[in-house]
Amino acid sequence: MYLKLFFFFILSQSLHYSSSQILNFTYNGFHHPLTDISIQGIASVTPNGLLKLTNITERQTGHAFYTKQIRFKDSPNGTISSFSTTFVFAIQSPNPALSVHGMAFVVAPNSSLPSAQSNEFLGLFNRNNNGKITNHVFAVEFDTVLNTEFNDMNDNHVGIDINSLISLNSSLAGYWDETGQFKSMKLRSRKPMQVWVDYDGGTHQIDVTMAPFKKSKPTKPLVSIVKDLSSVLLQDMFVGFSAATGLLGSEHSVLGWSFGVNGKAPPLDLSRLPTLQQSKRAYKKWLLLLIGLLVIFSLLVYLIMRRKRKFAEELEDWEADLKKNRLKFKDLYDATKGFKEKDLLGSGGFGSVYKGVMPKTRQEIAVKRVSNESRQGLKEFVSEIVSIGRMSHRNIVPLLGYCRRKNELLLVYDYMPNGSLDKYLYNSPEVTLNWKQRIKVINGVASALFFLHEEWEQVVIHRDVKASNVMLDAEYNGRLGDFGLARLCVHGTDPQTTRVAGTWGYLAPDHVRTGCATTATDVFAFGVLLLEVACGRRPIEIQNVSGERVFLVDWVIRFWIEGKILDAKDPNLGSVYDRREVELVLKLGLMCSHSEPLVRPSMRQVIQYLRGDAMLPDLSQLDLHGRGMQLGIHRGFSEIDMFTGGSSIVDSILSGGR
Ligand SMILES: *[C@@H]1O[C@H](CO)[C@@H](O)[C@H](O)[C@H]1NC(C)=O
Ligand SMILES: *[C@@H]1O[C@H](CO)[C@@H](O)[C@H](O)[C@H]1NC(C)=O
Ligand SMILES: *[C@@H]1O[C@H](CO)[C@@H](O)[C@H](O)[C@H]1NC(C)=O
Ligand SMILES: *[C@@H]1O[C@H](CO)[C@@H](O)[C@H](O)[C@H]1NC(C)=O
Ligand SMILES: *[C@@H]1O[C@H](CO)[C@@H](O)[C@H](O)[C@H]1NC(C)=O
Repeated sequence: MYLKLFFFFILSQSLHYSSSQILNFTYNGFHHPLTDISIQGIASVTPNGLLKLTNITERQTGHAFYTKQIRFKDSPNGTISSFSTTFVFAIQSPNPALSVHGMAFVVAPNSSLPSAQSNEFLGLFNRNNNGKITNHVFAVEFDTVLNTEFNDMNDNHVGIDINSLISLNSSLAGYWDETGQFKSMKLRSRKPMQVWVDYDGGTHQIDVTMAPFKKSKPTKPLVSIVKDLSSVLLQDMFVGFSAATGLLGSEHSVLGWSFGVNGKAPPLDLSRLPTLQQSKRAYKKWLLLLIGLLVIFSLLVYLIMRRKRKFAEELEDWEADLKKNRLKFKDLYDATKGFKEKDLLGSGGFGSVYKGVMPKTRQEIAVKRVSNESRQGLKEFVSEIVSIGRMSHRNIVPLLGYCRRKNELLLVYDYMPNGSLDKYLYNSPEVTLNWKQRIKVINGVASALFFLHEEWEQVVIHRDVKASNVMLDAEYNGRLGDFGLARLCVHGTDPQTTRVAGTWGYLAPDHVRTGCATTATDVFAFGVLLLEVACGRRPIEIQNVSGERVFLVDWVIRFWIEGKILDAKDPNLGSVYDRREVELVLKLGLMCSHSEPLVRPSMRQVIQYLRGDAMLPDLSQLDLHGRGMQLGIHRGFSEIDMFTGGSSIVDSILSGGR
């Protein structure tokens, strides 16, 4: 009875090992708990079920074997049964152009291959045993390196190896599609791909087929060989995988695997396979990209914020009724292309003037940038400037608007294409004006001043009438500009100023004495301007030899005393001029710049004289000889030595001392 039982046991055991017995196993991923798989070397199994034969550690091998022996033959001298296997693998190299070395499906007598080497030996053999029939190894290699010593065809091939790394047959990695076309595949593409290895025990046909992941098995194999494996494989063998790294590391992974002897390898459930992990390098790249994007994003935000701040408009309560005169800083910034040096029209005591073109209307503008350290008086100043700007008079440079930001005030005027009058007068200018043009300018400025003094709702004292503040428009009309020093006062009241402001040479002695600017002090400056236009000379000229300063008024008086006032006229005038007019302008100039304010005519009278509506009084009655007073004042100036070459005395015009 026991014997019987024992016999039965033996029988069942031998039946179990009979080669006719179907044996198969399937791994749709190598998930926990992992049974019947042993790993060696640097091989590992990731938590998500990926069998990683190698990682990026250099010159290492990695092995994974099914732990149970597979019976390939009925008896030690028998023939090898048919077997088949399919698996999905991927090779991920940190460097997409280079991957070392490769991996293999292997059938071996031992599940540890302890003497196998890394690098080109793929963890299958070593230098000594490579090629020996005692190895009893069958392998299919997926080689990403060209080794000439093993007759490799290229660095991207699939080969059938028996006991040696010199393949019996090999092919460029790829597959034959349904239409019979060969499609190559890159082993190191980092993409998963599926392989089928089939051995027919009857015909000894070995077929290796591969295809991209999730593509069905191609009918035509990639590489085949007819070889009876009976003399190669022993009765019981181990099946598994081997991979090796070299000078560089590379990740060789198996995602899923099935094997069958005496039957087909069960198909894999591709949807259950683990997903490939991006290599650390790829992850790093991704992280770097993300950080890069973040940096760019924050930089953009910063730039936008800075731009917003730069062009922020701050409107104070008092500006409410000036709103329609206020321009956007951004528009002015764009108009002047960021206040470029090359668009600078000029700069003086008052700030810099830039040329620009308004972005929308294409209107040409001149932008004057006035900086003020103190905010005191700004409100008053801006309101005055803007209300003056609202006046529309054909001989006043139109103010288009203003813009105020922080410590800066920007005044926007119509661009005057012909610049300022002074350019045409002194130092033998290239372009000069003929007498007709000059008298037109004089009439224009006179008309503007008359308007300011008498015609407008308030009395406006310009306080800085001078040649460089007279602008010429396209038709050479004189237009009075720069109201930076102008003061408004109610008609019939005395303006009160405690500071002297204006330009040396144009300053009336009474203004300097009392500090008080009046319409008469404007007339004085206008008189100097008349003499300038007629004589083509500066209000104060330095005599070359002695360095002595000559005041234009005194210079003309000298001619007048000698009874030949016309000789004071500008030699550049040529011969075409109206003698009577030139004489009138010179005499009117002397009268207006008389040291005694009461002697000076009003602008109303000036216009009457210029038009010929009234006769100019006889200058000899006006005590021009008695100008010693004025000359004394002039000398006083030179002693103080504050000759500033024609620029305004505007030390701190906005500082509230007005
Ligand atoms: C490679 O794998 C081995 C074994 O799992 C591990 O000890 C080693 O740290 C890994 N190296 C890298 C670079 O991941
Ligand atoms: C197997 O073959 C060897 C020689 O090739 C022979 O010596 C041995 O007897 C054979 N064994 C069997 C069981 O046939
Ligand atoms: C595999 O090789 C090792 C070392 O050579 C040896 O100890 C072990 O017994 C072998 N295993 C088998 C199954 O042959
Ligand atoms: C190598 O494999 C190819 C493709 O299967 C086949 O056409 C060729 O005949 C094989 N070469 C040898 C020597 O068997
Ligand atoms: C796998 O083996 C089992 C028996 O162990 C069998 O029922 C099944 O049909 C086999 N699968 C394949 C695909 O051969």
